[in-house]
Amino acid sequence: MKKIIWEDEFSVGVEELDRQHKQIIEVINTLADKPRMFRRFQNVSSALMELTNYVSEHFLLEEKLLQENGYPNLLEHPKKHTLYSNKIVDFCQGSLDGKRDVPTELIDFLTHWWTNHILHEDMQYKAFFKEKGVK
Ligand SMILES: [Fe+2]
Ligand SMILES: [Fe+2]
Repeated sequence: MKKIIWEDEFSVGVEELDRQHKQIIEVINTLADKPRMFRRFQNVSSALMELTNYVSEHFLLEEKLLQENGYPNLLEHPKKHTLYSNKIVDFCQGSLDGKRDVPTELIDFLTHWWTNHILHEDMQYKAFFKEKGVK
């Protein structure tokens, strides 16, 4: 399956956030390598649990930095994170219900969501953090 290749354009200019993004991408790429393991609900839920641990930590830090530095439209960004988390719950439920298309759809969703979120939505705060001297 298609993987996410980290390029310099993915960098949001804050070291720890970049590190977390790289870690999340790595987990997604590992999942993309073995879509077959997703045929069992238990495997889907444990893979998502592992990913969710990294993701929750990341969302928390990102939102904290935005808040601490007085980012304008503060409520907008976390909303996107919440929509993502809801979607993951849907996938988990879908897997529990035995839907056959979960693996492909899930990996597709993760790949697209994270690429788009980092490159377009997270990228909106890059200049802001730079101006604030957050590195
Ligand atoms: Fe974000
Ligand atoms: Fe992010």
